[in-house]
Amino acid sequence: MRKPNQNLLATSLMLACSVVVVVHVFVFPLYSVLPRRRSARQLGDFEQMLCLSNLRASQGPVLWRHHCPRHGIVTVAQGGRLGNQMWEYAATWAVARRTGLEPYVPRCIRKLLDEVFCDLSIPSLGYVSHCPIDWDNVVRSPELWAYTNQSIVLPRFSVFADLTLGWAEDIRHEFRFHDKLCETSRRVLESAGQFVNGTLATYVGIHVRRTDYRDYLWRTRRIFLAGAEYFLNAMEYFRAKYGKNVVFLVVSDDPAWCQRNLVGGSGDVFVVSKSGVSSPGQDLAIMAACNHSIIDYGTFGVWGAILASGETIVYNISKHSSIRVAELLPNWHVLN
Ligand SMILES: *[C@@H]1O[C@H](CO)[C@@H](O)[C@H](O)[C@H]1NC(C)=O
Ligand SMILES: *[C@@H]1O[C@H](CO)[C@@H](O)[C@H](O)[C@H]1NC(C)=O
Ligand SMILES: *[C@@H]1O[C@H](CO)[C@@H](O)[C@H](O)[C@H]1NC(C)=O
Ligand SMILES: *[C@@H]1O[C@H](CO)[C@@H](O)[C@H](O)[C@H]1NC(C)=O
Repeated sequence: MRKPNQNLLATSLMLACSVVVVVHVFVFPLYSVLPRRRSARQLGDFEQMLCLSNLRASQGPVLWRHHCPRHGIVTVAQGGRLGNQMWEYAATWAVARRTGLEPYVPRCIRKLLDEVFCDLSIPSLGYVSHCPIDWDNVVRSPELWAYTNQSIVLPRFSVFADLTLGWAEDIRHEFRFHDKLCETSRRVLESAGQFVNGTLATYVGIHVRRTDYRDYLWRTRRIFLAGAEYFLNAMEYFRAKYGKNVVFLVVSDDPAWCQRNLVGGSGDVFVVSKSGVSSPGQDLAIMAACNHSIIDYGTFGVWGAILASGETIVYNISKHSSIRVAELLPNWHVLN
């Protein structure tokens, strides 16, 4: 007689767990943006809620105290990796420019970006952490913003391509790499070939995103990763245009696949990423140093191509911000 009861108990436990999982997966992104609202009274408490990891562990030096903002501010929640956080930073930058509000980013975003870029203009929320937060005047998007005393807190994974790329040259200037990264990129380019038969080389950066994107693409769009043919066709386009002077530099999270599939006998393809050694900042700097780009999907490759500022071939994938960027920037072509 006990058995059915135990089964029932087991079933309801499982149900309870799945509810927790569902709530966690689907509601977490919402409450992590404007969480336990009233518990944060100062911007400093709020800053922690915008970050993925504990700020205390990575706080760095104590910041001097700024004046408190006179009107509302623009800030953003942290999500994703380097490419996503560049969009989050850029969204804050662009919305502040459009609205005239003061921009701030949480320290966790500044910390990640400061490792790659120098002299970013947006200060961290740490400078105004002592200032009160006025919950009645917080909105989540520029569309809901009506008065200068309202603050805008953008959700994580924000991509404001239209607004940001209206000022494309300025945002490129905002993301300036540290000298050390530029120096290493220069050496990588040079060692791949500076002159081909006496003529200066044309460098094409290729970003191949594989590992985690395989599941992501299948889960969200029911499509497979871009195959080798996509990259080989795009490379043929540049070979036809620049002849023997073209040099391809491949950055990827799966360098072994690139070595097997993209490096033929032509001697003009160099896989620069190394297995197990990941330096996203350095890889991005190499892409940015190239003259042109071939990218598949994902925000990292898109930023590499935006910063390289040349002709770009991008993989055709519906409803991805990369396709919107291709519509906004000159010299971007979508290829199947
Ligand atoms: C914000 O500005 C609006 C319009 O000027 C005003 O009605 C409202 O009372 C202000 N709120 C605060 C808290 O100052
Ligand atoms: C280099 O230039 C010479 C003379 O123009 C040409 O004959 C030769 O094929 C070129 N070699 C390569 C690798 O482009
Ligand atoms: C191509 O890129 C290299 C390395 O950044 C640069 O030195 C060169 O001036 C660029 N060439 C053109 C035509 O822009
Ligand atoms: C991209 O794919 C969509 C549908 O998947 C198609 O309608 C569109 O024509 C393609 N674009 C290019 C440039 O091939």
